Amino acid sequence: MSDKIRWGLIGLGLISRKFANGLAFAPDAEIYAVASRSQDKADAFGAEYGASKCYGSYEELARDPNVDVAYIGTPNNYHLPHTLLCLDAGKHVLCEKPFAVNAKEAQIMVARAREKNLFLMDAFWTRYFPAMFKLRELLAENAIGDVMLVTADFGGRGPVIPERRHFNPDLAGGALLDVGSYCLQFASMIYGAQPADIVSQVAIGETGVDELSVLVFKYSDYEMATLTSALRLGTPHEARVMGSDGYIAIPDFWHPSELTLVRPGREAQTFSFPYDGEGFHFEAIEVGRCIRAGLTESPIYPLDETLAIMETLDRIRADWGMRYPFED
Ligand SMILES: NC(=O)c1ccc[n+]([C@@H]2O[C@H](COP(=O)([O-])OP(=O)(O)OC[C@H]3O[C@@H](n4cnc5c(N)ncnc54)[C@H](OP(=O)(O)O)[C@@H]3O)[C@@H](O)[C@H]2O)c1
Repeated sequence: MSDKIRWGLIGLGLISRKFANGLAFAPDAEIYAVASRSQDKADAFGAEYGASKCYGSYEELARDPNVDVAYIGTPNNYHLPHTLLCLDAGKHVLCEKPFAVNAKEAQIMVARAREKNLFLMDAFWTRYFPAMFKLRELLAENAIGDVMLVTADFGGRGPVIPERRHFNPDLAGGALLDVGSYCLQFASMIYGAQPADIVSQVAIGETGVDELSVLVFKYSDYEMATLTSALRLGTPHEARVMGSDGYIAIPDFWHPSELTLVRPGREAQTFSFPYDGEGFHFEAIEVGRCIRAGLTESPIYPLDETLAIMETLDRIRADWGMRYPFED
């Protein structure tokens, strides 16, 4: 392996740009190659970020023997083929969230990585922020007693462009996979399990994707979660973990820079963890750490948990009777 981990970016849209910006804050990372379906786009993006190689197809990047790890930044329905393309070429992979469209796809991806003994990670960057380490530490210390309720909301009000990925069923759009998945992975991190029972309400919009939903998860009698996701509604993006002896509030829980511990009879404590840029470097640093340590998955977000969350997402969509046009 080279001095720095050599990244290859696949699909040069909005998130790949943010991730590329984040790599600048990862000391052990280099943007070695970028790939687009358009050579001109790859050349422009590569020039901007100082990439050594700019490819006009994803296949060329996958074939480049100098790429250590591929980052998949394409729409949801392409995560499976593009991840397999890179794994089959011997690359480690960080795949954007949602990891796949459904559990069946996710199982294929995980099985292939395990068969090839390559690193694979679901790019839920939330898990790797210092504030999340602090949250896990507080919970391990039993700072709020027994956790009984988790709440998390994630809604954004973007432009309604039916052909773009958010509202387009052909690109596996909808609020649940796009932003609700953040809430699910957060609840999964807190309880270390998937819910035994789920009830939900959903509004399916005219393009056929879920635009607003409220989920109620029950893990056991005194362990529950309420999770909200939306495409046409801006929400505060706050998570709260509530226990028998207090609660922890995490503003902007998907990329947190602080959290507040509130306990009865004590002064509230806020812990701050400012960071550089938007914080995409934390997941990149974790990928580099794992690859250098010879790990094929991150212990902070194991692949079995990714698979379990994908199964929960499937359960919810099955309850809504919502299938994407390409799902058999
Ligand atoms: N972690 C986060 O915070 C975060 C935030 C936003 C999005 N995401 C995830 O990142 C993925 C991409 O989202 P995005 O907002 O970056 O989307 P985007 O701006 O539309 O970019 C997606 C890129 O994928 C490539 N692509 C390949 N086939 C495509 C097709 N048929 N239609 C459209 N694009 C195609 C294109 O790159 P080329 O033209 O260069 O080939 C396109 O620029 C999604 O899975 C999303 O959930 C994650």
